[in-house]
Amino acid sequence: MSAARIAIVGASGQLGSALSEAFAGREIVTPTHAEVPFEDPAAVGRLLELQRPDVLINCSAFHHVDTCEREPARAFALNALAVDAAAAACAAREVAFVTVSTDFVFDGTLGRAYREDDAPNPLTAYGTSKLAGELLTRRHGPRHIIVRASGVFGTGGTSNKGYTLIEKVLAQAERGERTRMVDDMVFSPSYAPHVARAMRDLIDAEQFGTHHVANAGCCSWYEFVATAFEKAGLGGAPLERISYASLQNPTRRPMYSPLENTTFARAGIAPLPSWQAAIDAFLANRKARMAVAGA
Ligand SMILES: NC(=O)c1ccc[n+]([C@@H]2O[C@H](COP(=O)([O-])OP(=O)(O)OC[C@H]3O[C@@H](n4cnc5c(N)ncnc54)[C@H](OP(=O)(O)O)[C@@H]3O)[C@@H](O)[C@H]2O)c1
Repeated sequence: MSAARIAIVGASGQLGSALSEAFAGREIVTPTHAEVPFEDPAAVGRLLELQRPDVLINCSAFHHVDTCEREPARAFALNALAVDAAAAACAAREVAFVTVSTDFVFDGTLGRAYREDDAPNPLTAYGTSKLAGELLTRRHGPRHIIVRASGVFGTGGTSNKGYTLIEKVLAQAERGERTRMVDDMVFSPSYAPHVARAMRDLIDAEQFGTHHVANAGCCSWYEFVATAFEKAGLGGAPLERISYASLQNPTRRPMYSPLENTTFARAGIAPLPSWQAAIDAFLANRKARMAVAGA
């Protein structure tokens, strides 16, 4: 059964804007951050009462990992307590609740891609706050979907990081500037339009529970950017391979956190394309956007 009316909080972000496109043709409600600050339960309650959605999707988050280390209370307020309140408000009104989590709930030491039922062990305040958001969601009953993504890249802006990494490095390469990328941190890139379509399919099929939603395969950040440069015709651009340790960043991150999906096959949902195909799709979209902007 297709959900007819969908409310999206965080609709201006990378994933939120892709979701608005994935649900084109349905009734979509996309309040701005100012209209519905997600930490404000009264604002979320009003959204549900006034708009009467079938599904509330939360794409808001405080996901600047290093800032979360310094401001854990702020991370918990949005990533955990607000998620708890929204899940409760949805359960009380029989609205399905969808929220987005992260590979950072894992510690990266397993040595293989993480499946949905592998044990979390976050290393960061960000990962801990997102795991808390998951646990608090689950306590309000079964009508929820938790999507774990990893290294989201898309065509919309990412506000609270202040930049979209792939756009930033492509622009650097086009200007002939050097890019340095970590080569010992491995993840599964998640192209926002692909993730959004899978989320739509999960919602339509009422596949409640926890799902890993990332492009197939995995790579290091260096490999990801090197491949994007090659595919964009920027293979000669200066790109330096560095280690995470060389950044001397005090935040411990999971060094090997690819995500494997084990739930789509039994739900009859198509697996996501490879991360290389996702870069192709991103670059085709970027080319089209630049042509429109230059026209
Ligand atoms: N980015 C990644 O690499 C990554 C990886 C794994 C998982 N995730 C998860 O994926 C989800 C979406 O990430 P994204 O990359 O699409 O984020 P994004 O581009 O930064 O978008 C965040 C959206 O949330 C809104 N927002 C922020 N704080 C809000 C608040 N307090 N109340 C209401 N709206 C608020 C922002 O609006 P304004 O711009 O107006 O503030 C924006 O529309 C998040 O749950 C994130 O934790 C992301």
